This record gives sequence, structure tokens and C-alpha cells, in this order.
Amino acid sequence: MAKVSMVLNGKSVSADVEDRTLLVGFIRDVRGLTGTHVGCDTSQCGACVVHVNGKAVKACTLLAAQADGAEVVTLEGVGSADNLHPVQAAFREHHGLQCGFCTPGMIMSAIDMINRHGAGNLDEKTIRHELEGNICRCTGYQNIVKAIKAASDQMAGMAQAAE
Ligand code: FES
Repeated sequence: MAKVSMVLNGKSVSADVEDRTLLVGFIRDVRGLTGTHVGCDTSQCGACVVHVNGKAVKACTLLAAQADGAEVVTLEGVGSADNLHPVQAAFREHHGLQCGFCTPGMIMSAIDMINRHGAGNLDEKTIRHELEGNICRCTGYQNIVKAIKAASDQMAGMAQAAE
């Protein structure tokens, strides 16, 4: 067993888990945050993407013990039903989801790519390249790309307005 502590969505949490417990298992099964999905468990689909210390990570590729001491953010930590993150709002507005299974990972990857490239600096080719690790089984990529581009541009406008 391993004692794992982390800051999860801004809250300090800890639990004793089996050494083999994956971060995605810690998030879903130990903490009950089921917004992070498991599509493959083998690092193929991207449904499990969360942010670890500010970077997008497939939570099925990391042991919970490897995230000990880390700051972890899941979909539940980026917005709420009453206060959607601009990326979540853009997915809703541009119909960026079909069955919705890949959506949590898509949104977490999208926020990460906007953070890395800077809001307003994403074109379609870059977004498609960045999404290589996220699979949509409905193959609805067109509206996902549109939603990410719109969110990126909107966030750039918000940043300008705040200056
Ligand atoms: Fe982690 Fe598919 S569940 S990449």
C-alpha cells in the first residue's frame, strides 16, 4: 500500500491505495470524480486527460503514487454548470460533442493547448495536430476543432478586455 496525497481541484486529499493504483483510478474510484473517463486504459484514447502540475497528462499512464504531492485538476475543477469554462461553453455552443465520451479529455487537452500556445494563437492545423492523442469514436472532429478555435479566440478577447 502507498499513502498518496495531492491537491485535487484545489483541495488537499490523501488516501492509502494499492501500489498499482493508477491516477485515473484514484480520481474516479477513490475520490468519486467520474468526469474523467476511461476509454482504453492503455494510453490510446485520451478520455482520461487531466492536468498534473499544469500539464495535460493521460491519467491512465501514471500511478497514483507518482502524483503524490502534485497539483491535479480534473474536468470538475475547471468549471461548473453555473459557471462554465470558456472551452466548455464553446463546446456547447459549437456542438463539439456527440456521444460525449471523449469530451472531458478533449476539454482538458484544449485548455492545455490554449495555455501553451497562448489564447488566440491556434489555427485549425495546430489544433488538429495537438489533438492527435485524443480519439473521438463518433469521429466528430470538425465541431471540436471549431469549438477550440472559438474558445481560444474568445479567451484572447477576454484577456485584451482585462488589460
Ligand atoms: Fe487513458 Fe484511454 S483511458 S488514454
